[in-house]
Amino acid sequence: MICLKSERELETMERANALVHQVLRAVEHAAGPGVSTGELDKLAEGMIRAAGGVPAFKGYRGYPATLCTSVNDVIVHGIPNGKTRLREGDLLSVDCGVLLEGYYGDAAVTFGVGAVSAEAQRLVAVTRACLDEAVATVAPDARLGDVGAAVQRRAEAAGFGVVREFVGHGIGRSLHEEPQVPNYGKPGQGQRLMPGLVIAIEPMITGGSWRVVIDDDGWTARTEDGKLAAHFECSVAVTADGRRVLGLGGFMNA
Ligand code: MF3
Ligand code: CO
Repeated sequence: MICLKSERELETMERANALVHQVLRAVEHAAGPGVSTGELDKLAEGMIRAAGGVPAFKGYRGYPATLCTSVNDVIVHGIPNGKTRLREGDLLSVDCGVLLEGYYGDAAVTFGVGAVSAEAQRLVAVTRACLDEAVATVAPDARLGDVGAAVQRRAEAAGFGVVREFVGHGIGRSLHEEPQVPNYGKPGQGQRLMPGLVIAIEPMITGGSWRVVIDDDGWTARTEDGKLAAHFECSVAVTADGRRVLGLGGFMNA
């Protein structure tokens, strides 16, 4: 079932996503050589609870932490811990979800720890462009295929891989609602978008093969060929005349 949101609900979801963005900014600021991913997780959980929210991922299907911290060849769902210390040149993807006033916010960013390779910088820039170009397709009467095709076109033109195994999703009173939002597709195909629908768009792009292997912990998803991966995510509402990226001032601009 697709759940359409009222203007009032969108305002609450703005606040939930604004909190997620604040957390992601603080985590990016705190991440540096020698810092453990577990320390970043504590920082995030403290900020969320201080704001009256609840970490959305913690306990979700048994997931043990507030953040997903995915380093280098880890695509998504890296579990924060006290042993994994960041090193200069690492590529870190951070995904965060919160539940605030009954509604979910969900967003992710990827950044370098200190200076990273030119190829890592290109992967980050292209993945961010995939998100921005996918967001730009969102409008009433556009279709899910338009969203996925925008991601796929941008990534594949750059010679990068588009992960198939994980997808974006509707979001609202649940973290994952219908519809699923793949990062590939054909323009003009798939479910039609309508005002009040909110989707989390989350391109997961790799430096090589799009195939995924999962670690023995049952969560950590890596590229099969060991190449780098990047992930950006934001929540977008379809409005009568286009779209609104949820979170104050859009998604992590400036
Ligand atoms: N942003 C991801 C998603 O929407 C993160 C989920 S992590 C989990 O699926 F731990 F909650 F599964
Ligand atoms: Co998500």
